[in-house]
Amino acid sequence: MKIIQVNSYQDMSQRASQFIINKISNNNALKLGFATGGTPKGTYELLIEDYKQNQTSYQNITSFNLDEYIGLSKDHPNSYHQYMEQILFQHIDIPKANIHLPDGLATDIALECKNYEELIEVNGGIDLQILGIGENGHIGFNEPGTSFDTLTHVVKLAKSTREANARYFSNINEVPTHAITMGIQSILKSKEILLLVSGENKAEAVKRLLTDDVDSNFPASALKKHPRVTIIADKLALSNAM
Ligand code: F6R
Repeated sequence: MKIIQVNSYQDMSQRASQFIINKISNNNALKLGFATGGTPKGTYELLIEDYKQNQTSYQNITSFNLDEYIGLSKDHPNSYHQYMEQILFQHIDIPKANIHLPDGLATDIALECKNYEELIEVNGGIDLQILGIGENGHIGFNEPGTSFDTLTHVVKLAKSTREANARYFSNINEVPTHAITMGIQSILKSKEILLLVSGENKAEAVKRLLTDDVDSNFPASALKKHPRVTIIADKLALSNAM
């Protein structure tokens, strides 16, 4: 794992956006894996800025998101479909047909998971997967204890994850209890991974990631098994680790 230490959230976003833009300039048909949450928002803002200033084209880019809540429609304000639409997709020229997220309202959720995994395969796999990390080490919605063999599957969200995400809902009871997520194996199948980490609340998770053994009780430790992982972390996130 290559670690790039930066001073601040803004610097992390700057480095991350430049990293992604460089990949797109080398391959304009990149298959990009996106994460939601607070961490990549600044990166996405800078991708939009770059799109406006430099006309980086997303016409041939294909996107796959890590996860989606079960029970929220695509136009629900807290669905990850909406998050991506508002925060990135509507501001760039990515064709709608190239955008993929699991459908949290699918009638047959098991089939939806299988189809989503197959769709990634059929498209040749993800070239660059962007990740954030939960305080408990989750990646995607793969909570502690998730087997490293998992493909796209249904998860029951940990109480701590629902509490952390309650900030986007009017109260915690509205946070869905389940989600569809790419599995750890799905994530590890990506050709390259970019993990973004910012803030003191992630310092313990980063320390564990860098020092603990590979263990399914800390899902992000699976990343140590991947040959091409870059971590861009700010000083606060690295404050326990270095
Ligand atoms: C989001 C996702 C999650 C987040 C993680 C960190 O699609 O899969 O694993 O990356 O919960 O969230 P933030 O960035 O809000 O701290």
